[in-house]
Amino acid sequence: MLRRLDQLLANLGYCSRREARAWVADGRVTVDGAEADGFGQKVDPAAVQVDGEPLDHPDGLLLLLHKPLGLVCSHDDREGPSIYGLLPARWRRRNPVVTSIGRLDKDTSGLLLLTDRSELVHRLTSPRHKVPKVYHATLGADLPPGLGDRFASGQLLLPDEKEPCAPASLRVLGPREAELTLTEGKYHQVRRMFGCQGCPVLTLHRVSFGRLTLGGLAPGQWRELPPGTFSPPPA
Ligand code: URA
Repeated sequence: MLRRLDQLLANLGYCSRREARAWVADGRVTVDGAEADGFGQKVDPAAVQVDGEPLDHPDGLLLLLHKPLGLVCSHDDREGPSIYGLLPARWRRRNPVVTSIGRLDKDTSGLLLLTDRSELVHRLTSPRHKVPKVYHATLGADLPPGLGDRFASGQLLLPDEKEPCAPASLRVLGPREAELTLTEGKYHQVRRMFGCQGCPVLTLHRVSFGRLTLGGLAPGQWRELPPGTFSPPPA
């Protein structure tokens, strides 16, 4: 798709539109190897270079982050240090903004996806799509008998919720340790599910999202995912 040059550079976080005009006038921007004609030129992003470098992810970003403990998933600075501070400054200035696909609490670590593709955010957070997410929890009390059945029943109603939790799958790993697989994402859902059964969550870590896992990523690191990662399979 052709895009207006000054808008393109501003939306990819390079500079303001005013600065883009100056960059074009200074000859820093080329299109198909030749100096850009003007800042209003309609261009194919793949043909544009700034200071001799191709544009940084002009077709969108999709990242898999190992969220560390202690960071919030918020763009509001008043909420404290956030995951977005881990990203390069240029990515933080992009429009559409780079945002997380769902959220993890400040005190939860693990796999978090980030993207500037809003259609992906909507698709992957919609309960209709039932993407399984696996959480590893350690607990402050022994798991009561029958908890797996209660979680799987689709009848568990959390305090202040109108709809029961969708069926969830519990894998017991020890008296105070378990994995829980959810296909939805109510507010603080894992902590509230265990908590309302007398088992406060002490630590929580998201192990996987759909088929994606962290692999060897250290906390605070991310890797890029291929743009087609969530494309529907060919018919
Ligand atoms: N459930 C929680 O309680 N916290 C999270 O961060 C994710 C799921």
